Amino acid sequence: MATIDSSRFLKVLSGKRQSPVPVWMMRQAGRHLPEYLNLRSRAKDFLDFCYSPSMAAEATLQPIRRYDMDAAILFADILLVLDALGLNVRFEKGVGPIVQTVETGSELGTTPVEKAVQRLSPVYETVSRVRASLASGKALIGFCGAPWTVALYAIEGRGGTDKSSARIWAYQKPEALDQLLSDLVEVSAHYLAEQVSAGADALMLFESWAEGLPADVFDHIVTKPNAALINRLRELGVTVPVIGFPRGAGTVLPDYVSNVPVSAVALDTAIAPSFVKSALPVDLPVQGHLDPLLLIAGGQAMEDRVRFLLDAYSDRPHIFNLGHGVRPETPIPHVERVVEILREGH
Ligand code: CP3
Repeated sequence: MATIDSSRFLKVLSGKRQSPVPVWMMRQAGRHLPEYLNLRSRAKDFLDFCYSPSMAAEATLQPIRRYDMDAAILFADILLVLDALGLNVRFEKGVGPIVQTVETGSELGTTPVEKAVQRLSPVYETVSRVRASLASGKALIGFCGAPWTVALYAIEGRGGTDKSSARIWAYQKPEALDQLLSDLVEVSAHYLAEQVSAGADALMLFESWAEGLPADVFDHIVTKPNAALINRLRELGVTVPVIGFPRGAGTVLPDYVSNVPVSAVALDTAIAPSFVKSALPVDLPVQGHLDPLLLIAGGQAMEDRVRFLLDAYSDRPHIFNLGHGVRPETPIPHVERVVEILREGH
């Protein structure tokens, strides 16, 4: 277990500013690392990889060894929950995930929560293996997809779309949508609770597709289910900090943080630091938010932006991260340079 005394990442989540600022990066494990590609080539397919505790634990640890990040994120995927709930999930090379679609919204409820949570037990085994090999100063982050983002894959069957068909579906079948969201809240809360029992030190909710929603719809399908999920987790006795990532929230971000009991908020690439300064409480820890494309570009522009972000959040608890995940084409020396700048301290 990482403890607040040993982990600067957990200190920030508890509201204490740290210098140097702790760092990790979303999708820090994965295809930009040759050691990941090598490991991955030994798995039958991506799901098999995620359900293999030895491979998933190794993938989780690779970025910690290479970059000395302050936190490891469990190697898994937000779509495992749908697989565990009985939908057919495949990951196709060059295409991404393909998910069996739902029609009535009652499909997820046909698998008992205990059964789905049990099917995900290889993930808990990964968590405990990783925790056992991590130094106490390094935190381990467990995660799941937030209900709307996961529901969207079950409605549309794939990612990479403009999400319009899922939104039309949601407008046409409001009761079906509510059923999907509440089933996902329940199973995800238990799934996260098991990750914590296995050794996760903090949790993150990935609401990756929250952008472009009318404010009242955002409240209904993002804010309320995120809040319900955290409240359910607390009812289950889980006390670790939870980071919310409502990607694309834009001007409703202040409503999200005041209505969802998150310990910290992950900022996306687009949000302006000046907006964060004026609209979010100064004691709320923030995580973020270098543009992943600037991390690919590198050079002086990248270095200037890293320093700019450090300055922008120097008055509040801050964890350095990207505004979205590391892309496969990211040069390793650029990641190393960012970590080096952060370690210089400010
Ligand atoms: O370092 C880490 O963050 C590793 C763990 C992780 C993965 N997926 C591994 C993965 C995490 C936290 C995720 C979350 C995830 N998965 C999200 C939310 C975060 C985000 O990026 O917005 C979403 C939307 C997904 C769904 C998903 N999984 C997509 C759309 C894809 C295909 C696109 C892509 O990036 O390849 C995946 C596959 C996936 N998940 C890969 C990895 C490393 C690539 C699979 C491979 O190795 O071929």
